Amino acid sequence: MQTSFKRVIAGSVGLAALAIAGTSFAQTATPAASKAAEDRAVATVKQMTPAEKTILTHGVMPLPIGPNPPKFPDDAVPGAGYVAGIPRLGVPALTETDASLGVSYVFGIRKDGATALPSGLAMASTWNPDILRRGGAMIGSETRAKGFNVLLAGGANLMRDPRNGRTFEYLSEDPLLTGVLVGNALQGIQSNHVISTIKHFALNGQETGRKFADVQISDAHARESDLLAFKIGIEIGNPGSVMCAYNRIHGEQACASDYLLNTVLKKDWGYKGFVMSDWGAVPGLDAALKGLDQQSGEQLDPGVFFGDKLAAAASSNPAYAARLDDMNKRILWAIYDNGLDTHPVSKGGKIDFAADGAVALETAKQGIVLLRNERAALPLAKTAKTIALIGGYADSGVLSGGGSSQVQGEGGPAVNVPLSGGGEWSPFLAQAYHRSSPLAAIKALAPKAQVFYRDGRYIADAVAQAKRAEVVVIFATKWASEGFDQADLSLPEGQDAMIAAVAAVNPNTIVVLETGNPVAMPWLDKVAAVVQAWYPGARGGEAIASVLFGDTNPSGHLPITFPASLSQLPRPALDGYDQLEPNFMGGPPTPDAKLTVNYDIEGSDVGYRWNARKGQKALFPFGYGLSYTSFDATGLQTDGATARLTVKNTGKRAGATVAQVYLVSRSGAQLQRLVGFQRVDLAPGASRKVTLTIDPRLLADWKDGGWTMPEGEYAFAIGKDAQTLGTPVTARLRARHWEE
Ligand code: BGC
Repeated sequence: MQTSFKRVIAGSVGLAALAIAGTSFAQTATPAASKAAEDRAVATVKQMTPAEKTILTHGVMPLPIGPNPPKFPDDAVPGAGYVAGIPRLGVPALTETDASLGVSYVFGIRKDGATALPSGLAMASTWNPDILRRGGAMIGSETRAKGFNVLLAGGANLMRDPRNGRTFEYLSEDPLLTGVLVGNALQGIQSNHVISTIKHFALNGQETGRKFADVQISDAHARESDLLAFKIGIEIGNPGSVMCAYNRIHGEQACASDYLLNTVLKKDWGYKGFVMSDWGAVPGLDAALKGLDQQSGEQLDPGVFFGDKLAAAASSNPAYAARLDDMNKRILWAIYDNGLDTHPVSKGGKIDFAADGAVALETAKQGIVLLRNERAALPLAKTAKTIALIGGYADSGVLSGGGSSQVQGEGGPAVNVPLSGGGEWSPFLAQAYHRSSPLAAIKALAPKAQVFYRDGRYIADAVAQAKRAEVVVIFATKWASEGFDQADLSLPEGQDAMIAAVAAVNPNTIVVLETGNPVAMPWLDKVAAVVQAWYPGARGGEAIASVLFGDTNPSGHLPITFPASLSQLPRPALDGYDQLEPNFMGGPPTPDAKLTVNYDIEGSDVGYRWNARKGQKALFPFGYGLSYTSFDATGLQTDGATARLTVKNTGKRAGATVAQVYLVSRSGAQLQRLVGFQRVDLAPGASRKVTLTIDPRLLADWKDGGWTMPEGEYAFAIGKDAQTLGTPVTARLRARHWEE
């Protein structure tokens, strides 16, 4: 059964901990409110005429896209989706916009800017549920202000491949970290009386052949990994809607997967909300019987299935009739549970860009990860005389990721580099830089320094400038987008060679990475410091400068593994990459074309767990991150239900770290799973006792239709990161079996 909504304490993890009354969140539903919403939904469905019953079940993309762009109703806002309402019954239209990082720009068709949060990876690097909730509340408020009542947010797919083009939109490779963080983001969003999705359900692990890649994974492996992330996210965040994915699973489209939608989501998890399709992901009418409740962006599908066709099926077939009532009940539940009818949205609301930018800035500061810092090269002295900035349009702005999640600030991008050869989706595919100039921010923090910028296109020029400067900061970029995967782990356009050449002439070379994926660093040993800034959002330039000069002590920790090479991956070659032509919205090149992706290779051992299983060392492991101070985490005690430890700041600056506890073996059999974490802020010399509650699902395997814990010795260890573990402490635990 669905666990009813649980309140969350900032920074606490483990589902039992989440149940403890903590920071309450006004608009999220209590079980009683949820039941009341359900009762109202049932009553409204009873009043619907047959014609009204297919109004909420389908909608268009209110953009001039697709072979026959429809005429849009007056109350539609240009954005991702529009589903008409039923005024007679007081049911509002659904006005839908992307996405997880803020209100998207949809090709610049709407000229209004929005505040861009840093990328999902940046947010997750904070390991801070509270900042995710604040970010969610901020983007949810902008969603309302622009006249939307549905935000297509909540990207929660696990990083199964570091080349996945959408990695930047997602959070991590770990089900606990992803679930807790996405759940908090959803809470924040929905606190604005808007519905959020959680997406893309499920196992949407690569963009190559994204609309037909057929995922093979056992039920057990799926439930212990990607599905667990969604489950935890739904328990915490109570999203009104789940967006099903483009890919296939065991031969079925995810949006017509009886297994995913009916069995797992609705039956086993007792999910009450509605499943909306991804755009252009509905194969046919019978997706309704498989658990799909709403057809989105219908002009992108081969037909409008959930309109007249569904009405006709319901008039003659009791199975469709029952489903149609259930589809309406679910959509209405989400509307009522989030108060969309009682708190109607209207266009033209006020946005406090300064306040919202401050949320983006704080998130970026907490999410930047210091990967290397030799000879205390950082923080930079504000008295530095000459600083050369090279590359990455650092004079103008900071990079963002492409595709439907693209957000643009007021006035549009500072720099926009078109990257596609045309076609109707080409406006989505541009390398866009937010208006937050690292050069300006660095000059502001070091007003006496001579700071100069070169674009880095010529190695000889970069080297010449590097020779003149006391310090060189190279801004290395790697753009990523929905619709395409990365070819490999390199930095494109000769940047790896440029970095190596500059580092060879200036020992004080700092590399700032603006990437949406892990990258290889062939030059790593040659440079003094590496700062992973991800796509740092609307105020990213200031966040980077603040970390470089030490106004912000870096505290981010990697939410994903940086592999040492592609050969470490479960699939060194990305399935389909060499065979398929890149195609943003493309289905199979021929109707019978097949692309199988085998996730049973790693199963639920994704990322650091795969490395632990194979005994491999990452370039930088999951959980890794340096600081300008130092920390000790000691004294682990556990009974398997909670873990206690003490964290101490042993250095001279205030800073934050992340307490991480891993399960490392069960009855002598090696394995690795993150079972608890907490971000801890500490003054110099201060220490704090941390108590983590361990979710038993992280100790169990999925077996015989439920979670199973074998009796035995469970060993746990503190991790500085997934690869640097302390001495294990054991607890003897009894055998248990329970259902979802
Ligand atoms: C993406 C979704 C997005 C939708 C609407 C699709 O291409 O996969 O994440 O919400 O478009 O823009």
